[in-house]
Amino acid sequence: EIGGKITVCGGTFQRDDWTNISPKILSYLGRNLHIQPYHPLSFIRQNIVSFLYKKFVGRTGNPIFSVYDNLSPVVSVEQNFDSLITPATHPSRDKSDCYYINHKYLLRGHTTAHQSELINMGLNNFLVVGDVYRRDEIDASHYPVFHQADAVRICMQEEVFRRVPNGEALQVFEKSGMRTEDKQQEHTLEATKLMETELKSTLLCLAQSLLGQGLVHRWVATTFPFTHPSWELEVLHKDKWVELLGCGIMEHAILHKGMDRVLIDVVISIILRQVLGVPWDLMCLTHLTTQLIQESNTGPLALYANALTTEFSRYRPMPRVNLHPYLKAESTVIAVTNNYSTGAGDRIGWAFGVGLERMAMIIYDIPDIRLFWSTDSGFLCQFNNKTANDVIKYKAVSMYPQCINDISFWLPEDRLYSPNDFYDLVRSIAGDIVEQVCFDS
Ligand code: PHE
Repeated sequence: EIGGKITVCGGTFQRDDWTNISPKILSYLGRNLHIQPYHPLSFIRQNIVSFLYKKFVGRTGNPIFSVYDNLSPVVSVEQNFDSLITPATHPSRDKSDCYYINHKYLLRGHTTAHQSELINMGLNNFLVVGDVYRRDEIDASHYPVFHQADAVRICMQEEVFRRVPNGEALQVFEKSGMRTEDKQQEHTLEATKLMETELKSTLLCLAQSLLGQGLVHRWVATTFPFTHPSWELEVLHKDKWVELLGCGIMEHAILHKGMDRVLIDVVISIILRQVLGVPWDLMCLTHLTTQLIQESNTGPLALYANALTTEFSRYRPMPRVNLHPYLKAESTVIAVTNNYSTGAGDRIGWAFGVGLERMAMIIYDIPDIRLFWSTDSGFLCQFNNKTANDVIKYKAVSMYPQCINDISFWLPEDRLYSPNDFYDLVRSIAGDIVEQVCFDS
């Protein structure tokens, strides 16, 4: 059907000889399991978010990470690969590994696809959670759709060395350095090691807080096009090493790209909030945004902007820019041009990407990755009305479709009815022939 059109997530695309996305795959789009209330993947997302909110706070105790869990899985080849300096011949680009919509667009193969654009928006600490798509065999632990959470943390010189005695004397960058196993050419070894330590201790803490303190783990050196050095975190589960996540020090070229753009757009978070519903938080705000809010002087917002300006100016002096009156209109969609707020010159960052299904399967004892897609109440009711903090152990139910029969009961008025009375009644009459008894509210 080359030459026809294809509609994906509300957008219409021209098919071409790259198109290999199947109707079956299209049917998964929009399920958004990771944000469905009471879904186990949603619990994992919530736990990762709360962990980062708690672990990284600003001076006033406010979380500094911003979270994006609603970005469209339709991305460009540029986003998924080029922006992450993935070589043109890298196997991850193969048609046999990706779901291409056409030669320009595909379903994201990792949530890292959004990294570069979010950095160029001026964000320093953020998390992207979403569904990702990879052509793969299907078995109990592989499925062509799964979910990832990708985090980035970018630090300025002062932050990197903040806790180091005489840190003011240390540098993030060096002129005539070499790329080695341990570091990139531009970075000093000390900056790299400090970032590596923060990265690994953060991830180990995260894994322990989700999987338990007794966790047995190991770091395995690996490679990704967008980080160096890079590692995988593996944990011992039922006598097998399971790969939980990939991580590393961000390739400087990715951060630096922002610098090369003479004019860089600063995204106005008022607009993001009004138009896209992005949560209102510190990291959405670049200093120009805050200036804009101050100038438009909208009561509490202006106060907030003042507080933020103080926060930002701790890190570096903030030039005031003469804003065009057009920009001062509060609800205009704008790209303000300035090369200051996203300048990457003095920054170094770490990043990681973690698979939600792997985590959930270990935590909840879920034996098969296909179960996450189940609409069977036998699966869902085991998580229904629970919270992300509850200890839940999944009990297997039949993989066969349910058959529904209705029976009505009249209960004596003078007695309080408890669902457990009914469960006991069913079990004492029918024994284990009855596959599941659960309470659907
Ligand atoms: N995108 C990588 C993957 O899908 C994970 C990763 C993210 C690794 C960020 C390093 C940094 O396997």
